[in-house]
Amino acid sequence: MGVSPEAESVAGVSTEMSVAVPDPCLLVIFGASGDLTRRKLVPALFALQREKLLPEGFSVLGVSRTPYTDDVFRARLAEEARAELGAAFDPAAWESFAPRLFYHPGDVLDREGYPALRGRLRALCAERGIPGNLLFYLALAPKHYGAAVLGIGESGLSGPSEKLPGFRRVVIEKPFGNDLESAKALSAGVSSVFREAQVFRIDHYLGKETVQNLLVFRFGNGIFEPLWNRNYIDHVQITAAEDIGVGSRGDYYDGAGAVRDMLQNHLLQLLAVVGMEPPISLSADDVRDEKLKLLRSIEPIPSERAGEACVRGQYTAGTIRGHAVEPYRKEKNVAPGSLTETYVAARFTIDNWRWGGVPFYLRSGKRLAGRTSEIAIFFRPAPYRLFEHSACGQPGSNLLALNIQPDEGIFLQFDAKFPGPSIRVQPVRFRFSYEQSFGAKSQPAYGRLLLDAMLGDATLFPREDIVEVSWSLLDPFLARWKENPGRDLYFYPAGSWGPAEADALLAREKRAWRTP
Ligand code: BG6
Repeated sequence: MGVSPEAESVAGVSTEMSVAVPDPCLLVIFGASGDLTRRKLVPALFALQREKLLPEGFSVLGVSRTPYTDDVFRARLAEEARAELGAAFDPAAWESFAPRLFYHPGDVLDREGYPALRGRLRALCAERGIPGNLLFYLALAPKHYGAAVLGIGESGLSGPSEKLPGFRRVVIEKPFGNDLESAKALSAGVSSVFREAQVFRIDHYLGKETVQNLLVFRFGNGIFEPLWNRNYIDHVQITAAEDIGVGSRGDYYDGAGAVRDMLQNHLLQLLAVVGMEPPISLSADDVRDEKLKLLRSIEPIPSERAGEACVRGQYTAGTIRGHAVEPYRKEKNVAPGSLTETYVAARFTIDNWRWGGVPFYLRSGKRLAGRTSEIAIFFRPAPYRLFEHSACGQPGSNLLALNIQPDEGIFLQFDAKFPGPSIRVQPVRFRFSYEQSFGAKSQPAYGRLLLDAMLGDATLFPREDIVEVSWSLLDPFLARWKENPGRDLYFYPAGSWGPAEADALLAREKRAWRTP
């Protein structure tokens, strides 16, 4: 592993800091002609190249059934990167990046094809000076994960060999199963070929700068942690709102829905980072042990009570920023009478000393009024409301909002006296903005995670036990809806903030969703 010096400027102070550069490796992407490779993986790698974080010799071998040549593969990726990055696309930088990209036509389901793949891997490693390190990325339909892992195992590619010494790792894209049982079956298949330390499950929310910053914010500062508990916090709201629909992913999404697509992974992971205890070190297992402990402390909700704790929604026709939007049921590859949820709101409580009695409300939806992901911590009001009867104003509640996207930053809201002769109270904010403080937008989450997988650092990747405990919390909900697919499903117009029933979930407890 090498080290690349990078200048970091904080509030006018320039310091030299070291950034680890991984050893040369070959990233083998199964499913390379798909959306994920073009839209996320390659643009993220291109960004790493521009930051000089890719090691000499690092290469990508795309594997898919489509019969591309290396040149056609490169040209297609260039086109997509140009569309994705717009004005930020630098043709000269691409020219030096493209020679790292290679393509091998092959079908993961065809066992006969693996010897040819092995031959290509050996040849490429030799040609590019890679000491046999292989990182497999399963950018495939989940139903093919098992076959791909077995193919890798049977062809002797899951461990070092004489001709291909070096590390072997596998990156798996979510969803990790459909429920607890299928997640366990997937884990069993993967662990028949790879050890847990070789497996990197991607939850791209954990690669977002602001999510990582939450650990620094909580455990790197002395002033917030004393307040971070049931004595001072009234409740927490975690939102991941999107204004887009399902786009070209109707096929996958209609079989998944918002609970499996967002709640089981991204939202529960955010909850774990907000709620966990300080880890004893930043090692991957120390951090993940704390997250696991937190997720295991969430009070399980049995099937018969799921309707009180969870609301599902599906968008109907509506308007977003002046544009008419079709209902979910008319999206491409979505069943016309679909009962799949495009919105979910859920209420959880955590049975431990820190959080006893503090509700955590989580929500996510597509075709909502805006795109924003945030964690909002609502503090308890002052015990004695001296200013409540002020003639001109109502005190607002103290709120800490950690904005994950798009305006990456944090603000703290508190009440202040409005200037003037009378006592008029008005909420005001202290703000921290990533862009203003650090002069740059943060890098794509996938880049950070790919780099960590190359470095073998699993801190930001959910472990098998974490995935399973998340499913075990949602399994009772899923069983209830399997029995009656239309249950707890309400409709909301595209361009709104979700169904009214989700508002009722909080209103029952005299609370309301924050409009981000
Ligand atoms: C993915 C989901 O994991 O996250 C998508 O499958 C969703 O449905 C996406 O759109 C949201 O990610 P981001 O980074 O745009 O908030």
